[in-house]
Amino acid sequence: MTPEQFVAGLPKAELHMHIEGSIDPELFLRLARRNGVDIRWQTEEELRAAYRFTDLQDFLNLYYDGCRVLVQPQDFHDVTRDYLRRAHADRVLHAEMFLGVQGHTSRAVPLAVVMEGVLGAMEAAQAEDGISSGLIVVVQRHRSEDEALALLDDLRPWYDQLLGFGLGGAEVGNPPSKFAGFFRRCRERGFKVVAHAGEEGPAAYVREAVELLQVQRLDHGNACLDDPALVAQLAQQRIPLTVCPLSNLKLQLVPSMAAHPLRRLMDAGLCVTVNSDDPSYFGGYVNDNYLACQQALGLGRDDMVSLARNSFEAAFITPLQRSAAL
Ligand code: ADE
Ligand code: ZN
Repeated sequence: MTPEQFVAGLPKAELHMHIEGSIDPELFLRLARRNGVDIRWQTEEELRAAYRFTDLQDFLNLYYDGCRVLVQPQDFHDVTRDYLRRAHADRVLHAEMFLGVQGHTSRAVPLAVVMEGVLGAMEAAQAEDGISSGLIVVVQRHRSEDEALALLDDLRPWYDQLLGFGLGGAEVGNPPSKFAGFFRRCRERGFKVVAHAGEEGPAAYVREAVELLQVQRLDHGNACLDDPALVAQLAQQRIPLTVCPLSNLKLQLVPSMAAHPLRRLMDAGLCVTVNSDDPSYFGGYVNDNYLACQQALGLGRDDMVSLARNSFEAAFITPLQRSAAL
């Protein structure tokens, strides 16, 4: 059995992907045409060529601009349904997806349009492919905490259908502490909480996410390696990391896959998972990420099995769902 076949057959959960980051070039051009949205690119090749980034902000500029093609409920439905179909093909049994609602409401797209489209696609994917999914609303950290708090209230009609809240966007200069009150309120209202931390920012941001925001999972978290006491705490509390190797490479946070810290994070005893982040922009879905690590870091089959097991341990699912998957 080749590594490709082994990874393809491994049941897994994906816990770190942004719905807006999975619009593939073909769908992007189709949505732009459907909605009469002016874009800079005419062909899929032009679009792919534009997907070269110097850092996180450089990527976010293009990513937020790309969101303009999402206008109607059907657009949100199509992008979500396409991702879940693609994930199902990668043997993802359960996906927890990020949705950056403020990137849409700030363009005057009503919340109901966004939520109706995404939630309908999640239901369809469960019915048609048997893939379960959960939705995590990610607030943009360059915006104010008051805006995040207002969004939390505006989402009240959909509380039953939301898994939790997260924090994403431009990390450096926007520490987790800026959102301590928002996260407290999310927790008080019974939501799961996660945050991007230690992607481009320092270990101190990872510590803030754990100690101030009391996150149940860290998105990325790579920078924790700079603080051995923090690593020991994460290992002891078994706080999972949703690592995104190809994303880190494309955003030039690591010079090569061979230099990626995944293996070091695993060796430190952390609950590490592998995820695609923004698969269309970073050139790979979840299995591509497993394979890139396997090849560059010499992961064995036992390593890949533990990464996949960790993904179910780290997922916000019931013990019954977990034991059915393992
Ligand atoms: N939003 C989408 N992708 C992101 C990333 N890699 N980091 C922070 N925010 C994001
Ligand atoms: Zn992310």
